[in-house]
Amino acid sequence: MLMQFPPMGVYETLFRFADATNKYMGDPGTHPWAQGYPLTTRIPGGPPLPAEVKLQSTDLKYPKATGEIELRQAIADYYNSHYQAGITAENVCVFAGGRPGILATLAFLMPDICIAIEETEYTPYYDMLEILRRKVHLIPSNAGNRFRPSDGDYDVDPVGDCERVFLVKSNPCNPTGVATTGDALKTLVGKYCQSGRGALFDEAYEFYCDPEPESVLRHVDDIDATDIFVVGAATKGLQVPGMRVGWVIAAERHIEIFRNYSSFGMGGVSRPSQLYVTQLFEPQRVAQARTAVSGFFTSQRKRYREGLESHGFELFTGNGGFYHWGRLPGGISADEFNERLFEHEAGILPGVLCDMLRRKGDDGPLRDFARFSFGPLGPDSYESDMEIIGKCL
Ligand SMILES: Cc1ncc(COP(=O)(O)O)c(C=O)c1O
Repeated sequence: MLMQFPPMGVYETLFRFADATNKYMGDPGTHPWAQGYPLTTRIPGGPPLPAEVKLQSTDLKYPKATGEIELRQAIADYYNSHYQAGITAENVCVFAGGRPGILATLAFLMPDICIAIEETEYTPYYDMLEILRRKVHLIPSNAGNRFRPSDGDYDVDPVGDCERVFLVKSNPCNPTGVATTGDALKTLVGKYCQSGRGALFDEAYEFYCDPEPESVLRHVDDIDATDIFVVGAATKGLQVPGMRVGWVIAAERHIEIFRNYSSFGMGGVSRPSQLYVTQLFEPQRVAQARTAVSGFFTSQRKRYREGLESHGFELFTGNGGFYHWGRLPGGISADEFNERLFEHEAGILPGVLCDMLRRKGDDGPLRDFARFSFGPLGPDSYESDMEIIGKCL
């Protein structure tokens, strides 16, 4: 009865790891370098994470379809104060994490729209575009251009019989960490604000950016006049993946569509989770969290860069995210490397799972590429991480 499809690539790796080790990657004693979650503990210089959320009987009612007004307002205030975004709560819809917001946006695009997407991108985009059977134009992002498409690469014409183009882009990019910022971001959003163009900027790693967090909303003058969608989530920056709270910022007319979808397909998002996340947006707290996350993970990025390069990795990582992205030494494939790592209860994400064409086998361009996550690693695991990598190479 059901269409068949495999699990999303990161989970595929987690399931393989569980088969090999009888443990879940992230359990105590494991080395979760394939995982896409950040530390869920207080980081150096960061604010504490609240230990509880108080509930009254009224909090147990159905939540609002577009999200609770307190949270939507807190999100709008946040973007207005840090990026002069000029948005209101009416431009915000809350989802159960970033992915459901992305999927909803893609699912409701009109049929004459094709997708422009970088060749090396966030794993589940591939699954979503496959299942939705969208026509795709690939923007080159490979070792040849060091995973950094040029400005002109984003000038994309509609594919086949499509008439409009919609860009889907993680920024900073997962897995490469390449962040498009400043004037380059302004130019890019300018292109996709034009008629016949729209874009989804997935800013899950907004806080993880050196020298400071960045949002495309700084460059959008009047979101209601655009088809720009900005996705954020409490998952990474606010360090609470388990809360399952994400949001999409867009023109009011688009938020209305999300509300209508929620009314028949989602029923809103857990109110306790929304109340918890609202606390995290308290202005002073969130300002402290931005600085601390950017600072701490920048230092981790530098430290792991030195370690991985000293083991012969050829890194292509940019200034953002909490991953290193690069080529393994000595021609070893990422799958083979994982087999060795599993024996030490460690594992990386094979690069092929970030290939939007999923070219597998020995000829695939990313066969010896890996994504190494330092997001869940505390400051004290570095030595043992490097020791395992040394042994497995
Ligand atoms: C690029 C990117 N976008 C969005 C997300 C959102 O994740 P979630 O659905 O867990 O909030 C992630 C998490 O891995 C991500 O890496």
